[in-house]
Amino acid sequence: MYDYEKPRLKHDLEPEELLGVILDYAAKIANERHLDNVLMLMADMGKQIVVSDRCTVWLLDEQKGELWSKVAHGVKELRIPLGAGLVGRSVMSGEPIFIDDAYTNVEYRDALASGALLTDRQTGYRTKALMVIPFRNNEGDVIGCYQAVNKLTESAVFSERDLRNLSLAASYSGKSIESAMLTQEIEETQREIIFTMGEIGESRSKETGNHVKRVAEYSYIVALGLGIPQAEADILKMASPMHDIGKVAIPDSVLRKPGKLTDEEFDLMKTHTLIGYNLLKNSKRRILKAAAVVAEQHHEKWNGTGYPHGRRGTDIHIYGRITAIADVFDALASDRVYKKAWELDRILNLFKEERGEHFDPDVVDVFFERLPAILKARDEYADHLPERP
Ligand code: C2E
Ligand code: SIN
Ligand code: SIN
Ligand code: SIN
Ligand code: FE
Ligand code: FE
Repeated sequence: MYDYEKPRLKHDLEPEELLGVILDYAAKIANERHLDNVLMLMADMGKQIVVSDRCTVWLLDEQKGELWSKVAHGVKELRIPLGAGLVGRSVMSGEPIFIDDAYTNVEYRDALASGALLTDRQTGYRTKALMVIPFRNNEGDVIGCYQAVNKLTESAVFSERDLRNLSLAASYSGKSIESAMLTQEIEETQREIIFTMGEIGESRSKETGNHVKRVAEYSYIVALGLGIPQAEADILKMASPMHDIGKVAIPDSVLRKPGKLTDEEFDLMKTHTLIGYNLLKNSKRRILKAAAVVAEQHHEKWNGTGYPHGRRGTDIHIYGRITAIADVFDALASDRVYKKAWELDRILNLFKEERGEHFDPDVVDVFFERLPAILKARDEYADHLPERP
């Protein structure tokens, strides 16, 4: 009978196997631009190299005095304070840590007692052997560490050889981490600038900053649901908050008019699409180029009756077709100076009627298919305004 207490033991890697693992992962890691994915690949690699049950890669966030990690797709990043626990100590000292049996180790028990570690009872997991190895960037500064838990070979403890092998592997990843971190930094900066610019357009019309965030989330969900590649969905997510940037040029008397617009006023309002396009179109940045398309085309309609150009069907860029539904959904689900929010059912009925008219039918179908995720995003980015009586 299978003995659950003793999972089948593994053996340490032979030198050729080790080389194979490192070469395999080094190639994957070097081609990866997303920092989260770099971390997960490194953790996988580390787990194989030292034959551990678990392996986590922690990165130093100096500003916050924390270590953070990403252990799986779709799971929020983990964060632990630098000052607490063994992992932080190893990163601060630059020295590796080996623990052969956590239950008899004083340091480990102290860390547990201080609340810095989740206890095994909380996690349902028995920690025995533990190894922490800091790794450095090209300048020699410690930028993070490997944490391997429970050795699956007969010896059941980590060795100097594990330390050497994992340090070697880590030295190949340092550069990828740094360039992925730089990319992330740049993209976060761009994202902030974009949201800020988007909010300028929206705040003028008294919509809250969350409007642009919700439109970004809905657009992203629908894009992925349509099977658009991840990298393009990411770009749309960053570009879509700027769809109404052209409203900066619309006078308050029109933008904030509590009632219905006259024909002249609406004609003026319609220029926000071309104004936005003209503001953005000369940029060479991918995200801003995409934002120019979204600004121009988010009021085009599938049946050709939209503005500014009356484009029809797939002559409207897919980014424009997606942002159109995201924007209208949010406009209808929210109070505006000129209207109260609609009930969900009323909005969904409109979308059914407008399938193939205002909106691309495929986009409407995906919208309904992904409605649970969309409603979740709506709640997550809800406007926290006082309740209406
Ligand atoms: P917005 O408020 O962000 O609305 C975006 C789009 O959501 C609208 O584009 C329209 O397609 C849809 N939408 C919003 N409210 C309603 C509604 O009550 N019924 C229906 N069927 N659809 C609705 P649209 O119409 O091209 O308007 C563009 C922008 O012009 C609006 O952006 C808003 O800023 C302004 N606007 C439109 N109508 C009025 C109005 O009657 N009064 C005022 N003050 N502004 C208006
Ligand atoms: C540690 O700080 O020693 C380990 C962190 C963790 O496992 O959560
Ligand atoms: C305008 O500035 O009023 C028109 C916008 C444009 O033609 O680009
Ligand atoms: C898609 O990428 O899913 C549709 C492309 C298009 O219709 O332009
Ligand atoms: Fe608009
Ligand atoms: Fe909008």
